[in-house]
Amino acid sequence: MKIAVLPGDGIGTEIVAEAIRVLDALELDFEMETALVGGAAYDAHGHPLPEATLKLAKEADAVLFGAVGDWKYDKLERQFRPEQAILGLRKNLGLFANFRPAICYEQLVGASSLKPELISGLDILIIRELTGDIYFGQPRGRRTAVDGHFPGAEEAFDTMRYSRPEVERIARVAFEAARKRSKRVTSVDKANVLETFQFWKDIVTEVGKEYPDVALDHMYVDNAAMQLVKEPKKFDVVVTGNMFGDILSDEAAMLTGSIGMLPSASLNASSQGLYEPSHGSAPDIAGKGVANPLATILSAAMMLRFSLQQPEAADRIESAVKSVLASGLRTGDIWSEGTKRVGTREMGDAVVAA
Ligand code: NAI
Ligand code: MG
Repeated sequence: MKIAVLPGDGIGTEIVAEAIRVLDALELDFEMETALVGGAAYDAHGHPLPEATLKLAKEADAVLFGAVGDWKYDKLERQFRPEQAILGLRKNLGLFANFRPAICYEQLVGASSLKPELISGLDILIIRELTGDIYFGQPRGRRTAVDGHFPGAEEAFDTMRYSRPEVERIARVAFEAARKRSKRVTSVDKANVLETFQFWKDIVTEVGKEYPDVALDHMYVDNAAMQLVKEPKKFDVVVTGNMFGDILSDEAAMLTGSIGMLPSASLNASSQGLYEPSHGSAPDIAGKGVANPLATILSAAMMLRFSLQQPEAADRIESAVKSVLASGLRTGDIWSEGTKRVGTREMGDAVVAA
């Protein structure tokens, strides 16, 4: 088994280093190879996703990814921006299904901004379609408007698109995942306004007929945003498009206490996957040794479970994280009165020891 390790920028290098120490501590038999990605790759090779990095990722069984991006690249042409690297990896590896489990660890109930009774015991799974929707739809660009509210004015446009097979396959992923959980799927759309999402809703309903044991309901995205903070525990599996999923999964992250706790898996039709924390490169805290490495460590656990067929090792990592939290160690983002504040490295040390 081979893991491509792509730490990227900002806190990416700090948190991936800790995940690797945890993987090493398991003493399993796999090969790891590191490559540059994002701004780091742009600085060295003039491209955020160099051919060699893409080749390594394609040939690996799994990719462990940190984060990319920094404000200093904001002025670059879009194709050279660090964020294009993660979009390029998703597209080239066909990683259409993004799993973001939002679990509120009992020890962190107090770290969330929500009332304890709302989030205690929370365990929901957001499944975001990752290679379609308005993020990839063509055409896109800028032009002079020929119609609309201001004909003759400069305008910009993107295109929201989904094809039937794209919706069918993500729906199946959601129903299959729900079968292993509480057997409920909520499909989030905006069918009242957007044709793309009426189509989405129709297809999810059709696919749902193949899964009579799973309860399906539909919710508009604006209501879903509200229900996620009002009564998050009423969800089990939430499936949605690329853009709505981007937003709702960040919202769900805050239910868990911090975005520094939320892992993710992006899978294709085979068992190959890319595993990364849900957060970005956090330039505001990069280089300070204070970033929370747990989202990345928990992503490594998902990698062991989904791509490397090592479920026991995944369980070991997850229980180590729980016991470290139970011992009272906290990085700044999850710190609360009465707990011990530690840095990135000390948190990694504690997980390795556990
Ligand atoms: P961000 O997720 O990097 O940071 C948001 C806030 O959360 C910041 O205050 C940050 O300090 C904090 N934070 C994030 N991760 C943390 C951790 N592990 N421990 C403690 N605190 C943490 O999002 P932001 O600031 O919007 O974006 C920064 C850069 O990251 C941008 O260039 C953006 O494009 C990029 N980005 C990259 C992603 C990726 O590589 N997949 C995903 C999201 C953003
Ligand atoms: Mg996001």
